[in-house]
Amino acid sequence: MLRSRTGLCVAALALACTTLTAGLCASAATPLGGAIEPGFDYHSFANVDQFRMTHIEMDLQVDLDNKVIDGVVALELQRLDPRATQLVLDTKGLTINDVSQKATDVLGATAKSQTVWVSRPFHLEKPDPILGSALVIDLPPSRKAVESVKIEYLTVPTAAALQWLTPKQTGGHKAFLYTQSEPIGARTWIPLQDTPQVRATYTATIHTDRGVRAVMSAENDPKHKANGDYTFVMPQAVPSYLIALAVGDIAFKETGPRTGVYAEKSMVGAAAKEFADTESMVATGEKLFGPYRWSRYDILVLPPSFPVGGMENPRLSFITPTVIAGDKSLVSVIAHELAHSWSGNLVTNATWRDVWLNEGFTVFLESRITAAVYGEQRESMEAVLGLQALRENLATLEPKDQVLAIDLRDRDPDLAFSDVPYQKGRLFLSYLQSKFGRERFDAFLHAYFDHFAFKSISTEQFNEYLQANLLDRFPGIVTRDQVLNWEHAPGIPADAVLPTSSAFGPVDEARTAWLAGSLAAKKIGPDWVTQQWLYFLNNLPAALEPRQLADLDEARGLTRSQNAEIEHSWLKIVIRNNYQPSYPRLEEYLKSIGRRKLIVPLYAELMKTPSGTAFAKRVYAKARPGYHPDTAAALDPMVDPDAANAPDTPLR
Ligand code: BES
Ligand code: ZN
Repeated sequence: MLRSRTGLCVAALALACTTLTAGLCASAATPLGGAIEPGFDYHSFANVDQFRMTHIEMDLQVDLDNKVIDGVVALELQRLDPRATQLVLDTKGLTINDVSQKATDVLGATAKSQTVWVSRPFHLEKPDPILGSALVIDLPPSRKAVESVKIEYLTVPTAAALQWLTPKQTGGHKAFLYTQSEPIGARTWIPLQDTPQVRATYTATIHTDRGVRAVMSAENDPKHKANGDYTFVMPQAVPSYLIALAVGDIAFKETGPRTGVYAEKSMVGAAAKEFADTESMVATGEKLFGPYRWSRYDILVLPPSFPVGGMENPRLSFITPTVIAGDKSLVSVIAHELAHSWSGNLVTNATWRDVWLNEGFTVFLESRITAAVYGEQRESMEAVLGLQALRENLATLEPKDQVLAIDLRDRDPDLAFSDVPYQKGRLFLSYLQSKFGRERFDAFLHAYFDHFAFKSISTEQFNEYLQANLLDRFPGIVTRDQVLNWEHAPGIPADAVLPTSSAFGPVDEARTAWLAGSLAAKKIGPDWVTQQWLYFLNNLPAALEPRQLADLDEARGLTRSQNAEIEHSWLKIVIRNNYQPSYPRLEEYLKSIGRRKLIVPLYAELMKTPSGTAFAKRVYAKARPGYHPDTAAALDPMVDPDAANAPDTPLR
């Protein structure tokens, strides 16, 4: 059976399909060129037109010593096509031991009806390097509305969505496991329909060592004894990329009636202090965007190797410890992940091409929450810093990748996550807000979240809704062509409304004066906040005198900064100018942090010179074992192409 764009069996297309084996074609890899089919997920093998997963029941044995999950998963699926004879699931690197189908008294041998599981023939297709292997399960055609299949499987230690940490690599003394499934990592630890256009509820039983706690993107019970056996229920239907699990020496501390923090014991106090405003962020979100529909909002602070700033796993955002600066200056990451409770988790991108609907909306919502909780000034500074990051990023991107609705066919969906969906997406929404006015736009947003709650939508479905509920309702303000220009043309549209911040005026003045030698380093910004320092550092000229660097460092203690963002900006300057006194700190930073956004640009800067390259390679050899598979995968081609072919290479 060949899956085509229309979901029909089209034998002729088979000839054009590169990954064709045994008649199955990864539509994602179909090199047919031509127009994109909106809403079609090119990154999943699942035959979602015939079956749709509605519930997942997991029973997982998490073996921290051997770095393996031994799992049994039962999928409940709605059968849409009575003639369908194959169920196709996504897997990557999984060993499938058995597949069975739920049948009621299948042989008619007993008088009473009873549930039995009957083994079914299955095979794995030849793996695609990005998408993994389709798991094809033969099922007899049936008029049943619901099918259940059970799969017994094992993960590999290099599974891309799993990071297994040894006791030494964590803040505690116990091993740790966490998952990072977005965008298509779920298939490396659960066989399922790994596409954001399908949503399912789930339950899970996790067995692991005594003394460690398991938490999931589900209902968690912080009072449960750490006895090694845990059960979870997730009653809201979520897309696969939001299924998340962490296991480790995890403690809990409340920050409010429906918010709290999970972290390794050594970290939980500092985390609860840093994130003390979470409760009021939730309240702000509700006021602006509608009810919070996930019951609790907790935060899990991960070990420092966590590859992203935060991940919006429902009910339990996963957060990098690098946002704990001691002064709440970096907590907009929390506002961001919380905002995904509306944009992303409630209304979800149908495919990774539409990721701007998740991330652009979320940066916009994040800014609204930040403004309400920390003031307009903080928000405006972050908006300007975001715009600067976008401009820098655009300078490195090809025009085809500067668009909101990006063509990812035959490419890793990770590539979609540039500053474009985030910052250009936010600029688009700010533009609409400025054109229609805040009141109308707020009402639009609120209604949008209600209308599409628990649905996955494409850019084109958003456009249809936008047209009917904003453009046509208030005619003559924004045209359809203007909207399409935002979504499909490269760069920043000429009619964008760009953010400015009055807090940066004094920073520009101080920078100019210091560079001219008329302001002593000690006199720079005695009362500046983090965002002002970032703006000061990010806008210094590339080349500085060693004397200037020493002066600045001595006066402001930059090399010793405990603020991971300020340190990042400073270390970029350090590398550009080969300022040797800060290199020991640079090495420590690269070895202790795995967040891609903070370390990949530093390696990139180092690789520009021969001495930097030698330093980068030496440090990378030591740091790589502690990095997440995703971080290593991003750095290997740049720093150590040989590692990419090594046997322990993460599965990508
Ligand atoms: N959904 C992303 C995390 C993510 C990014 C997953 C890329 C997979 C690939 C999350 O919501 C996010 O955007 N995190 C940001 C933080 C933010 C404040 C912009 C990050 O990790 O930097
Ligand atoms: Zn996000």
